[in-house]
Amino acid sequence: MINWFPGHMHKARKEMAEVMPQVDVIIEVIDARIPFSSENPLVPSLRGNKPLIKLLNKADLADPQLTQIWIEKMEQVSGVKAIAVSQEKPEQIRALLPLCESLVPEKLRSIHPARAMILGIPNVGKSTIINTLAGRTIAKTGNEAGITKSQQKIKLDNNILLTDTPGFLWPKLTPPSCGFRLAITGALKETVFDYGEIAFFAADYLYQHYPDALKNRYQLDELPDVDLEIIEAIGQKRGCTGKGGRVDLQKSSSILINELRAGLLGKITWETPDMVETEIAKAKEDDLKKAQEKEEKDRERKLRTKKNRR
Ligand code: G4P
Repeated sequence: MINWFPGHMHKARKEMAEVMPQVDVIIEVIDARIPFSSENPLVPSLRGNKPLIKLLNKADLADPQLTQIWIEKMEQVSGVKAIAVSQEKPEQIRALLPLCESLVPEKLRSIHPARAMILGIPNVGKSTIINTLAGRTIAKTGNEAGITKSQQKIKLDNNILLTDTPGFLWPKLTPPSCGFRLAITGALKETVFDYGEIAFFAADYLYQHYPDALKNRYQLDELPDVDLEIIEAIGQKRGCTGKGGRVDLQKSSSILINELRAGLLGKITWETPDMVETEIAKAKEDDLKKAQEKEEKDRERKLRTKKNRR
């Protein structure tokens, strides 16, 4: 479940700050389909000037043009190197070893191995990457918060010591669309959202940005311009109809989400830097409004209490 803010957030921040001095380079695995929603919100403030490699994994499922735009955006930040990888091309992942080495000053490497820390939200493909780097299967660590117990160190080629840090993970939930995108791509499971909710979000986005993907997959000549009708059209095509020809929305929603997750609608990216910027600004505005409303209410309550006392 996702209601572990803000206690775990505080704990994770503390733990990450404690580990940071023993880290020479950070490897953050993100999902190329949702490069913003899948990143760790603590890294920018805690890394100081440590080199950071952003691995945009599952690039085989993402829109290549947008992946490039994201890479350029990320590399505008000093000390950040962004690379698109996928498990289909293990050589791309292996290239990480010389890169890590090159990012750590020789002076440090002459004293000890280059110390790399890898992190990433569950299901982003971190284990696959670790196994590819190690050339063997490494036991998976738990994703529960509290790294001290589950942290493990793995010796790699190029004199690199990799620390796996499962405790630092949690989903980014603001702006609210991040939650939907994490759910669509399979990072958040159904206990958080139901298929219906996320399928409507997905249908709306696909209608706006990838209409042909929907048309081709579900053989729709005309695309309805309302999310509900898109889901109904998918259901009709797939025979998800019950009594009286009514479409089973839950069933057709789960078809769309499962096929999206499997990459059957093609290479799709769910956010762009511009989109995210607008959403952050809107979320800030909403927060400010809420805070002002609360302040106003508090003031009124105080005034009323004062009057009553008189
Ligand atoms: P984690 O440690 O971060 O939790 O992730 P893990 O490596 O276990 O990978 C999670 C799922 O993502 C796995 O699929 C894995 O195959 C898939 N995956 C990892 N890297 C890539 C990639 O580059 N491209 C694609 N398309 N998928 C990738 P799964 O369905 O959970 O299991 P499986 O049956 O595929 O093994």
